Amino acid sequence: MNKPVYAIAAVGAGRVIGAAGRLPWVLPMDTRYFMEMTRGGVMIEGPVCYAELGGVLPDRETIVVSRDSSKTFPGASCAATPEAALELARASAMPGPVWVCGGQWLYEAMLPRCERLYLTEIAETYPGDRFFPDWRETHPRLLSARAARDGEVSLVFSVYSRP
Ligand SMILES: NC(=O)c1ccc[n+]([C@@H]2O[C@H](COP(=O)([O-])OP(=O)(O)OC[C@H]3O[C@@H](n4cnc5c(N)ncnc54)[C@H](OP(=O)(O)O)[C@@H]3O)[C@@H](O)[C@H]2O)c1
Repeated sequence: MNKPVYAIAAVGAGRVIGAAGRLPWVLPMDTRYFMEMTRGGVMIEGPVCYAELGGVLPDRETIVVSRDSSKTFPGASCAATPEAALELARASAMPGPVWVCGGQWLYEAMLPRCERLYLTEIAETYPGDRFFPDWRETHPRLLSARAARDGEVSLVFSVYSRP
């Protein structure tokens, strides 16, 4: 099946996405957005993301990319490479798109293959140790942008595409 492949991420100032295996922020509005967008689709993610999410999320399929065949990810399929994950995802019966969900290395590896990037841009500075690639190189076209506030924090839900 020819499913679209999209990336979804949230970034703070300096393109930070993670800190010590967790999100650097607690933003319920962004969490809801992530849950809604990925529902009915296929999520491709790394092992740390799988652990952070507490396993698989309902109403979607999950593929974890790990080079370690001794690891198990209950409820998810496992692939050794991003290419193998994409092949599995495209064969899925799920009606929705394929979503590349991070972390850092998976975004770096797969962003150029994503038709669109669903990016929550957070107007705050957070300390972190994981970063998103410079998407303006791969996805310079802004298709839409919706400003919102999550408590005191300003967010923009943006959608970018390749040139
Ligand atoms: N803000 C956001 O939108 C967002 C989204 C996602 C994640 N995050 C944050 O990012 C952090 C997690 O990202 P992460 O990059 O550390 O973890 P990750 O991508 O979830 O998992 C890292 C693991 O991926 C596996 N892996 C498989 N192939 C690999 C390869 N070619 N190169 C490197 N690793 C490979 C390795 O485990 P094996 O030894 O099993 O192969 C590695 O330990 C957390 O802080 C999380 O909160 C933020």
